[in-house]
Amino acid sequence: MPRRVLVTAALPYANGSPHLGHLLEYIQTDVHVRARKLAGEDVIFMWAVDTHGTPIELRARREGVAPADLVARMHAEHAEVYRDFGVGSDIFYTTHSDETRRHAEFIYEKMREAGQIETRTTRQLYCPKDQMFLPDRFVKGTCPFCGATDQYGDVCEKCGHTYNPTELKEPRCAICGTPPELRDSEHLFVSLGRFEGFLREWLGSARLQPAVRNYVMRWVDDGLRDWDISRDAPYFGFSIPGYEGKKFFYVWFDAPVGYIGATQKWCDEHPDRASFASYWRADQSQDTEIVHVIGKDIVYFHTLFWPAMLRSAGYTTPSRVHVHGWLTVNGEKMSKTRGTFILARTYLDHLPADYLRYYFAAKLGPEQDDIDLDMADFVARVNSDLASKAANLASRCHKFIVGRLEGKLGAAPADAEPLMAKAREALAQVPALYANFESGKALRLALEICGEFDAYITAQEPWKVIAKDPERARAVCTAGLWASKVIAAIFKPVLPKWAATVEEGLRLEAPLDFVNATAPLPEGQTIGAYVNLAERIDPKVLEAIIEASKDTMGAPPTPEAPSYTVEPLAAEAGIEAFSPVDLRVGKVLAAARVKGSDKLLQLTIDLGPLGQRNIFSGIGPSYAPEQLVGKHVVVFANLKPRKMRFGTSEGMVLAAGAKDDAITVLELDPRSLPGEKIS
Ligand code: 2FM
Ligand code: ZN
Repeated sequence: MPRRVLVTAALPYANGSPHLGHLLEYIQTDVHVRARKLAGEDVIFMWAVDTHGTPIELRARREGVAPADLVARMHAEHAEVYRDFGVGSDIFYTTHSDETRRHAEFIYEKMREAGQIETRTTRQLYCPKDQMFLPDRFVKGTCPFCGATDQYGDVCEKCGHTYNPTELKEPRCAICGTPPELRDSEHLFVSLGRFEGFLREWLGSARLQPAVRNYVMRWVDDGLRDWDISRDAPYFGFSIPGYEGKKFFYVWFDAPVGYIGATQKWCDEHPDRASFASYWRADQSQDTEIVHVIGKDIVYFHTLFWPAMLRSAGYTTPSRVHVHGWLTVNGEKMSKTRGTFILARTYLDHLPADYLRYYFAAKLGPEQDDIDLDMADFVARVNSDLASKAANLASRCHKFIVGRLEGKLGAAPADAEPLMAKAREALAQVPALYANFESGKALRLALEICGEFDAYITAQEPWKVIAKDPERARAVCTAGLWASKVIAAIFKPVLPKWAATVEEGLRLEAPLDFVNATAPLPEGQTIGAYVNLAERIDPKVLEAIIEASKDTMGAPPTPEAPSYTVEPLAAEAGIEAFSPVDLRVGKVLAAARVKGSDKLLQLTIDLGPLGQRNIFSGIGPSYAPEQLVGKHVVVFANLKPRKMRFGTSEGMVLAAGAKDDAITVLELDPRSLPGEKIS
């Protein structure tokens, strides 16, 4: 086992506010780190905000502030949110720091001395209107490999190929839409090809998920391209030595150096702990482990450029790169119009961080699968696993001992021993599961323990036994509390507050860890009052989160965007029941019969700028689904979404018909625009 472990999460870009997609990564990194610390490993979590580049430069210009002030403000915002989500990094520094600058310059000098940097004049896209060279992400066009439209200038999101922005077909400036022109500029390139031998070796020895290793090897086989690490002014970043004020390091050159800069800062502030050199100047012996946790979009940077930079400067190369998938919400990419692009702060305004920590951790496995935050499942899972199961076991035993047995613990009875032995075995697997990013499996073990002990308590009926044999009742409930202690230890990396509440309630002498969790509870000890471990989530809160997310995100301008404030309608409600009514033109995109209902049709309706809606309508007896597709209809757009057995209905379609008569859907002119208001 290595003596020192350094873990990083990708550095959040300072340009935007943290959202739940960010949290998916930071929660899993935090859980990994907490679990390894709990297992007794010497781990530090080095982290920072990523601050440089054109987006920051342009935003600062727009806001009329200095870029350094803008990133300081964003740094504070990010730091607060992550703190409130319980992300316990040892440092959350900034790449706009002296430490990062010094190390970036050092690496650059080493690469230059070794002849790994080449200067070449390149023709780059320049926007005459904005008077600047356009970075890769500020050009959009058609992918030269697969023909996908609307792709950025560096990599195609459809086919995964990387290319130069000049290779894009039909390019345009992403800031103003002007077709850019080609201009000459001198640039500095890292000749990555020189590192091929080293990279193959590193890819063979570093710990990577097999799928990741395979596709990175394919990139190497396809040929390594030189990497342009310079950018022309105006650019917010570090000047390249020798080109002060004229050329700057490309943000992706200094961003990962932020891992080193943060470590430098932390080591300077903790001289009693391991030295900086023991992390980043370690020989490649087994003493130091460096783990990067990243999303699948930034693999190229972390598995090719980054190891090459480190190698060149004689720094420790990564031992492991762990790649995770994306977050989807309700099965789809997060969307501002649907209100599923949820800012971390918006979530915190409505719910405790721990519920999301639990949900993500419960779904995470070791591979790169996308994780879906399904709102209904989220409520069900938290309410069931945390409130009905784990908290309930602790609560029923704890309250019984406090309320009926003077709060004194007993000795767990012999007939609980087989279950306890099983729980000990389960706990023994937990450290390795967390270390392998298999938090879902670890949490499932905790719930299995919970289920078995809960059944045991129910079968033993301490509430009946107490009349004749109070000591037996005490023993049985003590076994239940012992199990909730083991469960709390397994939960601890994910739910540190839960563990702290259990530690306090049971008056444990030492904080729980993976070893002491199975120690017997001290017989005769008096425990404290029971403090509730989890509340049930009211599903309405999620609607409120979605609502609030629609407001805050600056969705496409929809001045009269409806706000779902009207109560759901009974089908027979009169029109006056839902004033103020928001009627909109909707185009039926799809229609289908609903299994298990002869009345309902499920409609997908386009409301233009208001997005798409899923609407269940009772017009099944009068229409074949295909009759409706393409029709323009009237939609009540501001009804509260209504949960039905088949799903959620997000509005109603205007239809009329006398009782028992065929129902007619009011049809509009096909030239009417979806989303348009009807007065
Ligand atoms: O993709 C991003 O958001 C980058 N800010 C991640 C940087 S990770 C590291 F290299 F700094
Ligand atoms: Zn432009």
